[in-house]
Parts: sequence; C-alpha cells; structure tokens
Amino acid sequence: MIINFSKRWNERLASCLGGTVLWLLVFVLLSGCAEPAPADRVKIGFSQCTNGDAWRQAMLAGMKKELSFHPEVEFKMKDAHDNSTLQRQQIQEFLQEDIDLLIVSANEAEPITPIVEEVFNRGIPVVILDRRTTSKLYTAYVGGNNVEVGQTAANYISTLLRQRGNVLEIKGASGASPALDRHKGFAETLAAYPGMRLVAQMHGDWKRPSVMQNLPALLKAHPEVDLIFAHNDRMALGAYQVCKQLGLDRRIKVVGVDGLPGPHGGIQFVQDGILAATILYSPGGEEAIRTAMKIIKGQPYEKENMLGTMVIDSTNALTMKMQTEKLTSQQQDIQRQQQLLQQQRDTYASQRTVLYILLAALLGAAILGLVAWRAFQVNRRLIKRLERQNEEISSQRNQIAELAEQARIETEAKLRFFTNFSHELRTPLTLILGPVEEMLTASADLSAGQRHDLTLVHRNTQRLLQLVNQLMDFRKIEVGKMPVRASEGNIVAFVREIMDVFEKSARQRGILLRFLPSEPVLPLWFDVNILDKVFFNLLSNALKFTPDRGQITVSIQRVPTDNTVRVSVEDTGCGISEQDREHIFEWFYQGHQPAAKGSGMGLALAMGLVRLHQGQLSFTSQPGQGSTFVVTLPLELPVALRSDTPYSALPASFAQEDEMPPRSKEEPAPTPISASESLILVIEDNEDVRDFVVQKLAPHFQVSSAADGDTGLRLAAETIPDLIVCDVMLPGLTGLEVVTQLRADWRTSHIPVVMLTARNAPEQQLEGVQSGADLYLTKPFNPTFLLESIRTLLANRAHLREHFRRELSVDTATVAPQRVDQKFLAELTAIVEANLTRTDLSVEDVARSLGISRVQLYRKVKALLGTGVTDFIQGIRLTKARQILLDDSLTIAEVAYQTGFSSPSYFSTAFKAKYQISPSEFKALHVTPQS
Ligand code: FRU
Repeated sequence: MIINFSKRWNERLASCLGGTVLWLLVFVLLSGCAEPAPADRVKIGFSQCTNGDAWRQAMLAGMKKELSFHPEVEFKMKDAHDNSTLQRQQIQEFLQEDIDLLIVSANEAEPITPIVEEVFNRGIPVVILDRRTTSKLYTAYVGGNNVEVGQTAANYISTLLRQRGNVLEIKGASGASPALDRHKGFAETLAAYPGMRLVAQMHGDWKRPSVMQNLPALLKAHPEVDLIFAHNDRMALGAYQVCKQLGLDRRIKVVGVDGLPGPHGGIQFVQDGILAATILYSPGGEEAIRTAMKIIKGQPYEKENMLGTMVIDSTNALTMKMQTEKLTSQQQDIQRQQQLLQQQRDTYASQRTVLYILLAALLGAAILGLVAWRAFQVNRRLIKRLERQNEEISSQRNQIAELAEQARIETEAKLRFFTNFSHELRTPLTLILGPVEEMLTASADLSAGQRHDLTLVHRNTQRLLQLVNQLMDFRKIEVGKMPVRASEGNIVAFVREIMDVFEKSARQRGILLRFLPSEPVLPLWFDVNILDKVFFNLLSNALKFTPDRGQITVSIQRVPTDNTVRVSVEDTGCGISEQDREHIFEWFYQGHQPAAKGSGMGLALAMGLVRLHQGQLSFTSQPGQGSTFVVTLPLELPVALRSDTPYSALPASFAQEDEMPPRSKEEPAPTPISASESLILVIEDNEDVRDFVVQKLAPHFQVSSAADGDTGLRLAAETIPDLIVCDVMLPGLTGLEVVTQLRADWRTSHIPVVMLTARNAPEQQLEGVQSGADLYLTKPFNPTFLLESIRTLLANRAHLREHFRRELSVDTATVAPQRVDQKFLAELTAIVEANLTRTDLSVEDVARSLGISRVQLYRKVKALLGTGVTDFIQGIRLTKARQILLDDSLTIAEVAYQTGFSSPSYFSTAFKAKYQISPSEFKALHVTPQS
C-alpha cells in the first residue's frame, strides 16, 4: 500500500518535473532567439587620440553608421584628449575588458607603439586608423596616404604659383605620423621645382590657437612668403586669420588639408575664398569598421587600406559641396531608415518574444493541465479506495459499537437487577432487625440461651445488611453516583470512635487494639460516611486476619511535606501471599487465604472510596508476620467536595446503634396534652413494614395508616394528625411529594413529618429535609429510636405553640408556625402594637411597613391564622383593651381611645361581640373598686 502510494507520487513528481524542464527549455530557446547569444557577441574597443574636432566626430559618425549593420557588436570608444599617457592607460583598460578587436588612432606614434604591440601579441587584432604607430605589428591600416597628401599639395601649390614662389609650412603635432608623412611628401615634391622654395616651417598641434600665437613672428621673419601650407584646415584658418590681421591676406595664399563638408569645413573655406584649396583627407570611420568586421568574421581583407585624396579648390568646391551635401542627406536618409528598421526590428523582436512567451505559457498550461488531469485520475482512484476502506471500517465500527452497546445494556441490566435485588433485601432485613433489637433492648425476661440466639440473629442480620450496603456502594461508585460531602473535623477522634466498635470483639479474642495518633487533634476535611466505610472495612479486615492474642495498631500522623495525613492499620495476621497481592483491590476477588474468605468487596470498596476522596490506599505485607494498610488523605479538599453540613462525628449507622436523639436537660420536654391523645399517621406501602410501625407506635399514640401518598394526604387533611411517619418510595405520589403538598396546605403545613426509607444516600436525606421533612430515618431503623424521635418532635411542637402564644398574646393562633412564619407574625404584631392608638391604621399602612403588598399580607395572615388582617388588628386592640381595663384608673372611653377605637360605643360593641360581655361589665367583674 505504502509502496504503491510512493510509486504513484514518484510518477506524478517525475511528470511534474518533466513539464517544468520542458517549459524552461522552451523559454531559454525562445529568449535566445530574441538577442544574439553571448557567444556571438563581439567587443570592439576604439582608442581615439581625440574626439574634440569635427573631423574626428565625422570619423565616429561614419563608424556608428557602419556599426548599425552589426547589432552583434558591442562598440566602445575611449577619448585620450590628445594625451598619449592617457591613451596608453585606456588601451590597457580595453585589454582587461576582453575586447575582441582594437581600433587605434595614435596621438603620438612612439609612446603608443609598445601597448599596441602588446595587444597585437596577445592575439587581438589591431586596426590602425589615420595615425600610425612606429611598428609593423598591426593587423590592418585604414587611412589616407599622407605622403601622397603632401605630394598633391606641393604639386598644386607649384602650379598655383607658376612654379615660382616662397612657401611656409605649418606642420601637425610633431610625434604624429600624418605630420611626418605630409611633410615628407610635401618637401620632397616641392624640391623638385627649382623656382619653389620652402622658406619657413613651424609645428602646430592641429589646432588654430597655436598658429595664431606663433605664426605672426615667423611671417615677420619671412616677409617673402607667398603661400602657407597647413597640415589641416583648422590650422589653415588660423594662418588666414593671422595674414588678415597683418594685412597680408590678399598677397599670401593659404592651402589646407581635410576638406570636410559643412559650414565650418574646408570646402566652405574654399568657397568663401579663405583657402586657395584644401587637400581631401577622409576620416575613414566606415572603412575602419568594415575592415574590422572582415577580420572578426575571418573574411579576406587588405592589410593596407589607403583612402584616396584630391585637391578641392574654387573650380570644384561647389560640386564637392553639393555632392557631399547630397551624400550627407542620403546618409541621413539611410540613418533614418536604419532607425526605422531598428525600431521595427525591436518591435518584431518584442512581439516575437511575447509570442514565444505565450506559446511557452500555452505549452506550460497544457503540460500542467495534463499533470493535473493525471493527478485527478490518481486522486479519484485513491479516494474511491479510501471510501471503500472507510465504509469497511465504519461498518466494523458500527458492529463493534452494537456489540459494545449490547454488552453494556446486558451488564447494565444485570447490575440493575443486582442493585434492585440488594435494595429489596433491605426491607426484609429491617423487619428482622427491628423486632430483634426490640426484644434485646426491651425484654428483660429473656433466658441466656434466647439472648444468645437473638444476638446471633442480630449480628448476622447486621452483617447481611452491611454486605447489601457494600454492594450498593459498589454500584454507586461504578456509576459515579457517590458524592463526596466533606466537612472539617478531627480525624483522630473519628478513627477512635470507629475503633471503639471493634473494641469488644477484639477484647473477646485477646487481640490488643492499639491506637497511636501522633497528636490528639488533627483537623481534616473529610466525608464522614465515606471514611467510616473505609476504616470500618480496614479494621474488620485486620480483625478477620489477626489470630487470637494478636495485635492491631492504628497510627495517625501528619505528613507536612505533602500536606497529607497518613492513617495506617497494621495487623499481626498471616500476611498477603505473593499471588494475591496484585489482586486484593479487585472487586469480588477471593484470595487464596484459607483462613477467612470474605465477600471480596471490603478492600475494593475501601480503595474506590479512598480514591473518591482524593486519597491513596496502599499496603505492605510480610507473609506470616502481618500486613499494614496505609490510607493517605489530603489535608484540604476542593471546595466542590465540601459540604455546608457541619461535622458530625458519627455516621448514621453508628448513631442508631449507640445514641438516642438528644434531649436537653435544662429544658425537659413538655409532654403533649397527653401522649396517647396524639394522633400519628403512618404512610407506608409495604404492608409488613406498615404493620410493624403501627404495632410499635400503637401502645403510645393513636395511630392511623395509609398505603399510598394520595390516601395519606387525604387522611392528613381530614384528621389533622399531630405527626406523620411517611415512606419515601411510595406508589403514585412519592414521600417527598407528599411532604411538599403537606407543607403547601396551611391545614397540614404545621404537621411534623418523619421520613422513613431504605434510601440512605446523603443527598437523598438532604432532598427529604429540603422538602420539609423534620427527620429522616433510614431503614433499618431502631423502633426505640423512632419512638423517641416522635416524642421529641411532638414535644418541640408543644414548645413552639406555647412560645408562639406567649410571644404574640394572640389567642387566635392555633397552629405552630414554621420558623419563618413565627418571625413574620412577631413583626406584624410589633407594627400593630406600635400603632395601636391610631384609629386610622389601615391594612395598606401595615403592608407598607412590612414591605409587601396588601394582597400578600392578607393571604399570609389568612393562611397562617385563618383570619383577615382587620380581624387580626382588631383582635390585638381588644386583647390590649382587656388588659388595660383591669387598670382601675382609666375610664372605658380612655381605654377605647388608647386602643385605637374611634368611639367608646364602637369599642363596647366590638368587645361584647368577642368576649360576650361588655367592657363595663368586664371591668365590674374583674376590678375591685378601691374604697
Ligand atoms: C584631426 C586631424 C585632422 C588631420 C588629422 C591627422 O584631428 O588633425 O585635421 O588631418 O588629424 O591625423
């Protein structure tokens, strides 16, 4: 499966990569089409002696024009500004820039020669343009024949001067080859004419200012000069200007070299009569590039490329001008066309690039689409397979869930049966325990044998009951229904009290029961019911496994380091065998100890309960020597596990055993009118239990009974019993609902209720008490305890009623109100008494003072006392009036006004209506006139 997956992914990855590579290839190919590949590019370096004059600029223009046919050429010119040192440096730079060919026009022949040779020797072709070096180490030369230029000038001048005249020569810069060659050709040719004489010569620097500066002195020295020959037109212009300054311009003719077109060129000077003639000397830029390209492309080329020359004088200047202008305009046209061509080329190239990119993108998209389609196919197959697997898994999961649910339901049913069955056992056990306890505690005339047998029955019934309780606890822990309700108490006293239960049986078996607390008082938050079961189980376990005359030690100590308390129960029993150790805390585990087999619940229950209490239970054991069980409990418990109920040291089961309901010594219980007159209503569905309770109560009270809640409620309303004993689990209305309804009905709300049930969970007791029950007794109950509880409750009621009458001084009160009602009535009475003199005291006034509505006040008083509020106020007025009437000093009228009656006559009527005697008669009867 995994291999298949990775194979597929590899395929997908490969196809993806393949697509990408293809795409890249196409891109590279296409981008190669747009421009020449770097390998085809050519670098030409041009070292120019100067670019500062028109002739040189014409040379450069010619080069560029020719270069426009060669887009592959990368052309770079460096201007030496007539400086040979700078020119050497620039050629060196070209070498470092890896040029493919050097074009050089040497400022001076000598200084530039070595570097040019070096370039040549490195295998880089060298084209010498116009100005030569002194070396033969170059690839080609392009330029005019300067010796021929000198010769042409000499021949022309001789003709012009009719072979007789004196000539002055202005030469170019001394180190430059054209200056040398022109002079050579000129001087040699002139010498051939006998009437011609070269009378003076000077060196210029190819520029006009040098001539302007030096020529005047030379002319003064040679006034015989008829003609000046300058090596270029710029210097010739300078010579003309000097002659003009000296007033010699008409006599001395000037001839120059170059013959450039344009407004400042030699042709124009000839036309303007400044120069007699100029010798054409072409810059040769186009030719230089053409030659260079031939060399680069390996095509055949001439080493010496001499450009032709001619004389331009007044006879042909115009023709030349027109021709050159035409040429120039044609050249400009060509240039524009070339520019247009270039633009179109650029457009074409960019369109082609865009087209190729689009094509490439299309191709890429197609490839990606293919990849995506393939991926989709693969995914679809995978998804289908996964769906199939999912279906299989979910059907298996459903089967498992069904089986688990079935098992859970079956287990649940078994456990429910088990729990219900245990629950059912409690009632018959109650019925056994009750009479047995009754016989053991009440009958004095039992024989020793009978007492022994009854004790046996009693002990075993209790044991059976304990097992049933443990089973039910097990169930509660299992279903998480065992709440922890901790209160703060002294754990030392608590454990001590549990130990006391075992004291007697330990003594009988000669077992020494030692108690070793590290301190007398150790406050701890704990749940009495839970820890009672834990220590009871651990102690009974220890007692069971300790042989006669053995020893059990219970120690308690605080462990400050981890905020806990450790309670250990150590015995000198047989110990726990190796094979039993890991199982002893399992539910229903029967150990291999033949000595005493238990239910297999005690230790498991203890463990479950300790954990519930956030503690730990551990043990150590030495086979043959004994075992120690250690309960570690946290000093504090979370607030959620704490209860509001204050700590009561003994759990209910022990309280029933050992204690009777407390009766205050200072305040002996006032017996109800007569115990036998009190009517007790028993509401209990189980016939046996009902009969048993009725039978137990009948000697002491009048007893009526009902088998269900509805009947019980009806009887209660009809007969108004003094107390009701009511079971919680009843058919129809539950016991809790019965109590709630009793409390809701003012006829029955005052009746004390004792709840009697097999349910003993603390929260259920709480529920019972919250619903209004006065006492909550769990089965099995001690009949004597029940009897005493009833007597106490009745006595308390008598107390309440009495107290109520005394406090309120209202004889309308016939019921014992609840504590809240008592408070309410006290407040109500106080308000009325404080306003007794007010005749206008209204129900609204009283209600406002109490902070309730008029209707609320009316309902409350009616429900509590059975009278209206006005009657209640009237009652208090009359009671008070009766008291005051006994005071002899006041008249009837005064009494009437003092108790808020509007008139003495109304007071008399009201008084007589209530007491069947008029106020004056009452006064006459009770007050002895003082004589
Ligand atoms: C331009 C120039 C021309 C001359 C040539 C000689 O720089 O001076 O006038 O003919 O150089 O190299």
